[in-house]
Amino acid sequence: MRWYARQLGFAQDEDFWGIVGLLHDIDFEMYPEEHCIKAPELLREGGVGEEMIHAICSHAYGMHVDIKPEHTMEKVLFATDELTGLIWAAALMRPSLSTQDMELKSLKKKYKSKGFAAGCSRDVIEKGAEMLGWPLDELLQKTLDAMKDCETKVLKESALWQDMKKESRAARRGDWKTEPMPDQHETFFLDRSFTDNEMDALRRGNIPQAMEDKWFWYMEGSTFWAHRSWTGYCIYKIEFKADNHHVVTVNRNPEQYKCTSVEEDIESLNKLLDQWICNSRPASRR
Ligand SMILES: [Fe+2]
Repeated sequence: MRWYARQLGFAQDEDFWGIVGLLHDIDFEMYPEEHCIKAPELLREGGVGEEMIHAICSHAYGMHVDIKPEHTMEKVLFATDELTGLIWAAALMRPSLSTQDMELKSLKKKYKSKGFAAGCSRDVIEKGAEMLGWPLDELLQKTLDAMKDCETKVLKESALWQDMKKESRAARRGDWKTEPMPDQHETFFLDRSFTDNEMDALRRGNIPQAMEDKWFWYMEGSTFWAHRSWTGYCIYKIEFKADNHHVVTVNRNPEQYKCTSVEEDIESLNKLLDQWICNSRPASRR
């Protein structure tokens, strides 16, 4: 979108075009059935203006909404939304996995092949070219040039975003190998109160990062699970209770865990909880 803004004489609005591109599918992941119908509500809540809302929603013209692309920027978004998907799919078929060495001729071949990227509607792309008053080849060439121009930057940004997503979410079952709590187990109570910050730290869980990181823990609802990182053995399960009288289940399979005394377990579990809370990294840096 930024490339098109510069190319078509709207350089002063480049940021606006770029942001419309960034936000255009804002509701798609959570509300696929209400794509561009739910978006105005979400965008207004975030303080986005009506001009941008119109621009975003018009890309679903004739599919989910009846908001016609009017502005050049809206027509560009409408015309390129499906097309960029098709071009990227074509790039991923190439040994270079890139648009950089792709030429119009090979893109046209892919475009014409009905079986290729069948989910990318040629009808929408052609309708978009018509709205812009461009021959289809011109739309293909320009969009290919636009993607070549921003490919490195977009890939870098999306890799950073993926890393951030991975780092900021709480640990959950499946992030590490886990064995179930064995039939040989014992239950006792742990009387201890936790502050909101301490509970948040426990809720973030821990995915082991190094050999000396001996525990994997995560929470599901109000239940906390602690597993040995090397073996996946489940040692403690804690059901947190509002009255601070928490129910702990402890592993008593001698092959997996040696301790047999509840007193010792209470002492070591309290120490472990202190350690886990204290070592928990803030969510934004994990
Ligand atoms: Fe969309």
